[in-house]
Amino acid sequence: MRITDTSDVWWKSAVVYCLDIETYYDKDGDGIGDLAGLAERIDYLAELGVSCLWLMPFYPSPDRDDGYDITDFYGVDPRLGNHGQLVEVIRTAHDRGINVIADLVINHTSDRHPWFKAARRSVDNPFRDYYVWRDTTPPDTSKQVVFPDKEDSIWELDDKTGQWYLHHFYKHQPDLNLANPAVVEEILRTVGFWLELGFDGFRVDGIPFLEQTLKNVGDPEALVDPHDVMREIRGFLNRRAGHAMMLGEVNLPHEQQLDFFGGGAGDELQMQFDFIAMQATYLSLAREDPAPLVKALQERPATHPTCQWATFLRNHDELTLDKLSDEERQEVFAAFGPEPEMQLFGRGLKRRVPTMMGGDPRRIRLAYSLLFSLPGTPTLYYGEEIGMGEDLAAEGRMAVRTPMQWTSGANGGFSAAPPRKLVQRVVPDGYGPAHVNVADQRRDPDSLWNFVRTLIGSYRMCPELGWGRFSVVDQPHAAVLAHRCDLDDVATVVVHNLGSDPVVVDLPVDGSDEAHDLVDLFSLEEVVPVDGRVEVSLDGYGFRWFRLRPEGGMHLP
Ligand code: GLC
Repeated sequence: MRITDTSDVWWKSAVVYCLDIETYYDKDGDGIGDLAGLAERIDYLAELGVSCLWLMPFYPSPDRDDGYDITDFYGVDPRLGNHGQLVEVIRTAHDRGINVIADLVINHTSDRHPWFKAARRSVDNPFRDYYVWRDTTPPDTSKQVVFPDKEDSIWELDDKTGQWYLHHFYKHQPDLNLANPAVVEEILRTVGFWLELGFDGFRVDGIPFLEQTLKNVGDPEALVDPHDVMREIRGFLNRRAGHAMMLGEVNLPHEQQLDFFGGGAGDELQMQFDFIAMQATYLSLAREDPAPLVKALQERPATHPTCQWATFLRNHDELTLDKLSDEERQEVFAAFGPEPEMQLFGRGLKRRVPTMMGGDPRRIRLAYSLLFSLPGTPTLYYGEEIGMGEDLAAEGRMAVRTPMQWTSGANGGFSAAPPRKLVQRVVPDGYGPAHVNVADQRRDPDSLWNFVRTLIGSYRMCPELGWGRFSVVDQPHAAVLAHRCDLDDVATVVVHNLGSDPVVVDLPVDGSDEAHDLVDLFSLEEVVPVDGRVEVSLDGYGFRWFRLRPEGGMHLP
């Protein structure tokens, strides 16, 4: 690897931070977070060490799916601010070395989008073919809906025209017809618009459904391969902006994800979330056994060198466990969300990490240490850095979308509005702002915030975690995961104890000869191996990170 690669292919060693503007910081005091507020928090993100900011949808929207139901792909929702304020956010972020990506929703629009309003006027309306229609009564598709609590079919009868339109998500989100070249052109124009405004790429929403949607396009002549569509968008993206990146939400088995990376050519998505490894992480944490996680990582297919897996523990949706077997899912439910009100759609949990870990700081830190030391690009969801909890009383996925907790003051310092005017109530009780907030944790050197900041710093100092070759290090303890990431002449060697009993691990650190130094990445002290091994004592749920580097101080730390 050349050092220039870490800036050209910046996403391979980035730290991604996702937030929703409306719940981040309310500057004008109307109870809704806004762009002007976010602009004032960019230095906070820089201080934390974030290098890529992912903004959840900020487009005009009736807000029936938290902004994923869009009525204007070129707009900014006036509740959040305007294009000028968005440019200031992007400009400020760039100045602090942070790339900014936008959520790009290409599978559907809101049913109030002017295209759909036109499309449903008549079967021969010019926009009719922007969506997917059928004439005949649909079969039972209740197993294909994404939100089984609200929908029972992916087809909805449009009374006026007597045809059914396709919607994989809510019925108010009609699926776009990507087999129509005019729709793809609209998407390209949208991509071009936001790149011109300064964005560095996109998080692309709901990719598996593009394929299913295309299968439902009635006309067999119009059958389009979703990979052709992705390649076209990618080609356009990088013609317009060489450095721009697309991070796809593709919750599919690894082999199908490899296809969405563009296989050996690497010409589709540069990044994808690793849903398989995320789910395996929870199973491993529940069992106190690294085996499921190791299996998931070892089965990850090799990608094109410019492609990358995004690792994560939480996002704004339910913590989906859909790729586990029924028994495995029940194990995770039993460990981390046993009550029905903690579960969602029969497949996931509406909780955040600290509550799932029973508030045990050792286990919370263990989870984050794993996140930052596994091979890939770590992605944080706002509030994770301070250990925010959820509001189980909030409807469905809204439980984890509560306002950011800045201070112990009123509304957690999120807004000066009266509480009843807030976009959503602040987490009540034990995880509320009185106990969990940025201001207190920034001042406390032992806080979770400072710990996460250290992890971010360590990750960024060790590009081998993003770029290197992953391997499991042999050691005899069943509850211990020892792994390393090697790149050129450096390696990070990390050891985690997933169990509650203390252990002493006799850790081989191959390569630790006279030509190499070994450094403890948290204490920054040198460690001297004996016969190529180090004895590592770990408390229950303890962990250590080491770095093997050539002697002579060419490499920090
Ligand atoms: C994605 C988003 C989710 C949204 C859905 C429909 O899965 O992550 O929040 O509801 O797409 O756009």
